[in-house]
Amino acid sequence: MSNPTIRTTTGADAEAIQAVAMRAWESTYRDLVPEPSRRQYLAKAYDLDWLRQCHQRPDLRGFLLEQDGQPAGFAMLSLGDPAEDPPGAVLRSLYLLPQAQQQGQGRKMLEAVIAAARSAGAPWLWVAVHAELKAARVWYEKQGFAYDGPAETTMGHEKVKMAVYRLPLRPREL
Ligand SMILES: CC(C)(COP(=O)(O)OP(=O)(O)OC[C@H]1O[C@@H](n2cnc3c(N)ncnc32)[C@H](O)[C@@H]1OP(=O)(O)O)[C@@H](O)C(=O)NCCC(=O)NCCS
Repeated sequence: MSNPTIRTTTGADAEAIQAVAMRAWESTYRDLVPEPSRRQYLAKAYDLDWLRQCHQRPDLRGFLLEQDGQPAGFAMLSLGDPAEDPPGAVLRSLYLLPQAQQQGQGRKMLEAVIAAARSAGAPWLWVAVHAELKAARVWYEKQGFAYDGPAETTMGHEKVKMAVYRLPLRPREL
């Protein structure tokens, strides 16, 4: 794979995001989330109309990684509400196709996400990771995220334990 580029997304990228999510979820959660629950969650969270609607929201930013002109990864960032407690932007998703991983592209996607969150004035970037997704947890820790505590979510029929991480975006919060 070559010629990687990262750009922000529009509603017209809904199909590309959905296609990457379907393939990346299979390899990421195959051993962690049963197939029916994966399918149920994906159908809802990556529904094309829903993805297009998300792009109408002023607080959401999407990023698409393309390699040789083909979608190879995406990230979705929620800029957050300064009145929220705790305040900060939330990295809702970051998924690369297996063949696009381990080439520094995840780091570049994260840099684009961090730049957007910083320019929106967010003091923190939050991310919740499946608690048993060791590789991703180690990766976020290497990128400077600190473990904040446990959380729980639902994926299809499954209750899933999550690990919440935070990254300070302002020097005084370091
Ligand atoms: C987690 C994820 C986003 C990380 O992105 P990535 O592109 O694979 O990670 P990077 O390439 O930036 O960094 C990974 C390793 O590759 C190394 N690397 C960086 N550039 C490299 C290059 N040019 N050639 C070879 N290796 C390289 C990095 O040093 C790092 O190695 P280390 O962990 O030993 O330090 C990605 O693997 C992914 O999408 N995984 C599946 C989905 C997932 O788990 N998402 C997170 C859940 S929210």
